[in-house]
Amino acid sequence: MDLKLTGKVALVLAASKGLGKAIAQTLAAEGAKVIIGSRDKTELDKVAAEISALTRNKIVAIAVDVSKSDELSAFIAKAAETYGHIDILVNNAGGPPFDKFENFDDGAWQKAFDLNLLSVARTSKAVLPYMKPTGGGRIINIISGSVKAVLANSVLSTAMRMGVVGMAKMMADEFGPYNITVNNVAPGLILTDRIKHTLPKDVDTETAMKEKAKAIPLGRIGDPTELAALVTFLASQQASYISGQTIQVDGGASRAIY
Ligand SMILES: NC(=O)c1ccc[n+]([C@@H]2O[C@H](COP(=O)([O-])OP(=O)(O)OC[C@H]3O[C@@H](n4cnc5c(N)ncnc54)[C@H](OP(=O)(O)O)[C@@H]3O)[C@@H](O)[C@H]2O)c1
Repeated sequence: MDLKLTGKVALVLAASKGLGKAIAQTLAAEGAKVIIGSRDKTELDKVAAEISALTRNKIVAIAVDVSKSDELSAFIAKAAETYGHIDILVNNAGGPPFDKFENFDDGAWQKAFDLNLLSVARTSKAVLPYMKPTGGGRIINIISGSVKAVLANSVLSTAMRMGVVGMAKMMADEFGPYNITVNNVAPGLILTDRIKHTLPKDVDTETAMKEKAKAIPLGRIGDPTELAALVTFLASQQASYISGQTIQVDGGASRAIY
């Protein structure tokens, strides 16, 4: 299937590793002009060169801390200047820390808000002037399966992602007339550094992963490319009538019916 992504300008945030990197690579392989952003410029440049070599497509790397308003504005302005317009925005960021509700103070809540909720509002607003004139666009937010089924110690993530779900519904409603779709992709357990760090340390990684996989109907932890495939489809022309949705990529792990 030709996803008709050739030449589309796609911004992928938090893309120096993990889910963001896999999304950037898949979009680039489909012919999109990808601009990646995260904080560590050295790492980002390395990843841009790596994806570029693999996909034979140019990748532009712009350093940005998505929790900082001025850096986000500069990122969007530079990205828009690079190709003149923006077609696809993938909102992604690092995840907030895991712990019990009672252990988080105001500072931790504020950081999670800036990183995982306010950043989505800021970028989505900032890309509008560049998407509207092109006659359409795609906004895709990477959130978490915890919006469908509670996950222990994930109160900061859950609270912020629920905000993104509500905001995406509102944005889908308001941006529909501009032919801009807005959707959320909710990972279950996908093997990235973030997940590796949460595995129990008293057994080897393979044993720990097998143990975790027992709770997943497909019997394994997911691969970042499996999530990237959905994001790339949602970014495509073929996904033109899907908006306001939250779609899980979790191997069937969530037992919630709605
Ligand atoms: N993997 C999963 O199974 C899973 C499940 C549920 C939810 N999620 C969520 O999905 C998102 C991505 O997770 P991941 O597993 O890909 O994590 P990861 O492998 O740890 O990668 C995190 C990426 O985010 C970037 N980043 C972190 N803080 C940033 C900031 N302030 N500004 C810009 N970039 C930033 C990092 O680069 P720098 O450090 O250089 O900035 C890195 O590229 C997270 O929000 C996570 O909570 C993941």
